[in-house]
Amino acid sequence: MSTQLEKIKELIELREKARLGGGLKRIESQHLKGKYTARERIAMLLDEGSFEEFDMFVEHRCHNFGMENQKYLGDGVVAGYGTIEGRLVYVFAQDFTVFGGSLSEMQAKKICKVMDQAMKMGAPLIGINDSGGARIQEGINALAGYAEIFQRNILASGVIPQISAIFGPCAGGAVYSPALTDFIIMTEGTSYMFLTGPKVVKTVTGEDVTQEQLGGASVHTSKSGVAQFAVQTEEDGMKLIRKLLSFLPQNNLEDPPLFPNDDPIDRLEDSLNEIIPDSPNKPYDMYEVIGAIIDKGEFLEVHADYAKNIIVGFARFNGQTVGIVANQPKYLAGVLDINASRKGARFVRFCDAFNIPIVSLVDVPGFLPGTGQEYGGVITHGAKLLYAYGEATVPKITVTLRKSYGGAHIVMSCKQLRGDINYAWPSAEIAVMGAEGAIEVLYSKEIAAEKDPEKQAAIIEEKKNEYNKLFANPYNAARYGYIDDIIEPRNTRFRIIRALQQLQTKKLVNPPKKHDNLPL
Ligand code: HXC
Repeated sequence: MSTQLEKIKELIELREKARLGGGLKRIESQHLKGKYTARERIAMLLDEGSFEEFDMFVEHRCHNFGMENQKYLGDGVVAGYGTIEGRLVYVFAQDFTVFGGSLSEMQAKKICKVMDQAMKMGAPLIGINDSGGARIQEGINALAGYAEIFQRNILASGVIPQISAIFGPCAGGAVYSPALTDFIIMTEGTSYMFLTGPKVVKTVTGEDVTQEQLGGASVHTSKSGVAQFAVQTEEDGMKLIRKLLSFLPQNNLEDPPLFPNDDPIDRLEDSLNEIIPDSPNKPYDMYEVIGAIIDKGEFLEVHADYAKNIIVGFARFNGQTVGIVANQPKYLAGVLDINASRKGARFVRFCDAFNIPIVSLVDVPGFLPGTGQEYGGVITHGAKLLYAYGEATVPKITVTLRKSYGGAHIVMSCKQLRGDINYAWPSAEIAVMGAEGAIEVLYSKEIAAEKDPEKQAAIIEEKKNEYNKLFANPYNAARYGYIDDIIEPRNTRFRIIRALQQLQTKKLVNPPKKHDNLPL
């Protein structure tokens, strides 16, 4: 019989063995690919020394293909909890050195355990994905494992923040766990996500594509919109996750943490009085407006490379987290289209789920016209943004900077969509449409009847002036109370902070229902 000391020695040895995952050779090969190991990643992510691991001794129980002779302690995933800036988080990191990080029945059980703990404790979940997908030797048991994870992702959605880091392959149905989470971060050059790989694509469609072209970080952050963030290195990815969490509450019943703020709340930003060009067709950069009004210009943009005509991201006003949604006149004139609507809607819904007030900065000429948009279902997709704003019960503050036309005016958090505070700059133009389009509709017969081109131009000019005088201003909307106040641009920061203070105790509840039927 072994002594107590021998038993402890055995434990220490087993732990050492578990820490080596698939062995030194495979760790070296992981490093050669420019990737860190699961344990190195967790150490980088969490506060130093805070990690507590679960299930280090778990092994698979598969007997197919001689698997009983190939067992690794931990079975290809490192899972547990720790802290980020002192706040509890749950984490799992797939270990590519063990069967390519492939998901087995037992690996799934480990992941589900941390997911269940995260839900019980009301703490964020971070998943680090680096895996060859379902463990082929386990067949249906691996698929069942995925389904268990997906089910938990679904139930956790809107309850705890879920963040996925993709630091290697993530292919096949495996992509659906990250897709069900709130944010996806991908590393440039070393990560990819796709449902079917290049070989299957070649067989089925005849297309020749590389893994990078099919599902690399830049594809998913700029073309498909599947991922919100691309980072150069894993270190950058971990810093980003830590920063992102600093804006978020632990769960849907808490408020985001209040940060100490030394940026004066009444800081006047004179540059904003001059930022709107006198010509209505000239763009300006909405990032300059955002940077000028938020605390210290610190903006964490989400989906920066996708649908650049709308900007979304997190910032703080007097230390309080807000979600910023802003049209970008510098890109496609800030028009709303399918992608911008989807991007905006998802962000608004995230903010609403996690008690984050929404500040909307509006300069929108309308929805993008054309068959491309109509055939693509812009009606349904535009309705998503409309729906998201209309159902949101968090404080909603809207500042109209310049154009706010037609359906897009309504969608962008207007008063009747339960906007709490709606401000406008003196440069705002709130109307059914711009002058040119309106004159075309209202006076086309009179204009066509005048054959002398000079006189025709004079009629157009006169009617445009008449229209602009009536509608190209914020006063018409303010007259009906649709705009609460017209503010001097340089005061915008102060006015938003005041509005947020006023809205601290806002309570608004939607009618009870099983769930909504958001136009998907
Ligand atoms: C079992 C796997 C595995 C898997 C990789 N490995 N994927 N073992 N099941 N799915 C093992 C390899 O045998 C190898 O073992 C080690 O992991 C490293 O793999 P390599 O191929 O040597 O690495 P690399 O060249 O970097 O290629 C990585 C890879 C490739 C591109 C991911 O391994 C690959 O194509 N794997 C299969 C991917 C796939 O088709 N998965 C199923 C997807 S469908 P040794 O012992 O040599 O180290 C799916 C359905 C999910 O996942 C459904 C959910 C609803």
